[in-house]
Amino acid sequence: MANPSLLILAGDGIGPEVMAEVKKIIDWMRARRGVTFDVTEDLVGGCAYDKHGVPLHDDTMAKAQEVDAVLLGAVGGPKYDSLDFSVKPERGLLRLRKEMDLFSNLRPAQCFDALADFSSLKKEVVAGLDIVIVRELTSGVYFGEPRGIFVEGNERVGINTQRYTESEIARVARSAFELARKRGNKVCSMEKANVMESGILWRDVVQEIHDKEYPDVQLSHMYADAGAMQLTRWPKQFDVIVTDNLFGDLLSDLAAMLTGSLGMLPSASLGAPMANGRPKALYEPVHGSAPDIAGTGKANPIACILSFAMALRYSFDMGEDAARVEAAVEKVLADGLRTADLMGPEGGTPVSTTQMGDAIVAALDAGL
Ligand code: IPM
Ligand code: MG
Repeated sequence: MANPSLLILAGDGIGPEVMAEVKKIIDWMRARRGVTFDVTEDLVGGCAYDKHGVPLHDDTMAKAQEVDAVLLGAVGGPKYDSLDFSVKPERGLLRLRKEMDLFSNLRPAQCFDALADFSSLKKEVVAGLDIVIVRELTSGVYFGEPRGIFVEGNERVGINTQRYTESEIARVARSAFELARKRGNKVCSMEKANVMESGILWRDVVQEIHDKEYPDVQLSHMYADAGAMQLTRWPKQFDVIVTDNLFGDLLSDLAAMLTGSLGMLPSASLGAPMANGRPKALYEPVHGSAPDIAGTGKANPIACILSFAMALRYSFDMGEDAARVEAAVEKVLADGLRTADLMGPEGGTPVSTTQMGDAIVAALDAGL
């Protein structure tokens, strides 16, 4: 059987630094678990623009369509702020999501015991938190037409369109219900049905899919603004939250911060099954390229490492190895190792990006 294939797009800023630590885990998997990944590397974002004049080359796009999974670091940076919108680094990432049709974006927000003190919320509110936001990723206001900046009379008008078809809502709803069945069996759907027609349709379709196909899952609906409030008030009431592209973008940053640091959170973006039965998939940390700390050794590689663990679970059927990686992360945190973003008043042992990666590899060894 062919080796599992992986396209690594480290991207900009801290992307390459955190990805270097993932590569140590990939090497470990070969050396100690006998699993060899066929790894190809390529450019995305600002670095792709520097070389090709576009944030994602067509050849890279084609490669992404062929591999079992794509692993992405981060894109963007101040150097590219003044570029034309159409070639901004973010457009590379959005093209990957759109052309691979990765409609279901899983963003877990899990609070590690060792970090419960680190959240800006009280410890009892976040300790043991384990929720997943399922964000629709290929439609809505991110992609709806018409869009643009137009001239109307003597002024300009900026237009974006929130647009959802029934089938777009149905498929992401199914993915949330399927996930809930493997977890706490509870889905909360969030929209703004009180002000948006797209929200009314969203609510209807989610309810319909529930009633017809997933009556065993507990379903509730919430307006997205109230959802944001409830997420900060008592996040443990949730299990799986399903929401649209823009609300999901906002709510997942909020949920991320509940856990103490954006530097901890992985994500998986999944599409329709390929010929081998596995979903098309891209894995990336929720954090950005953090240009302010790039090159300083301060980046936390855990979100990217946990994104690779999600790849093991969802793309490679290696749930056991995914759990090994997650346990190794938990171990180093429990041992008190802290990258700069995790340094709170309670202290800990300060470590650099590479030291954190090495410690996780050592914990993997110790766990065998
Ligand atoms: C995210 C990011 C992206 C988004 C940007 C970088 C385009 O904020 O993945 O949450 O808005 O989707
Ligand atoms: Mg975001």
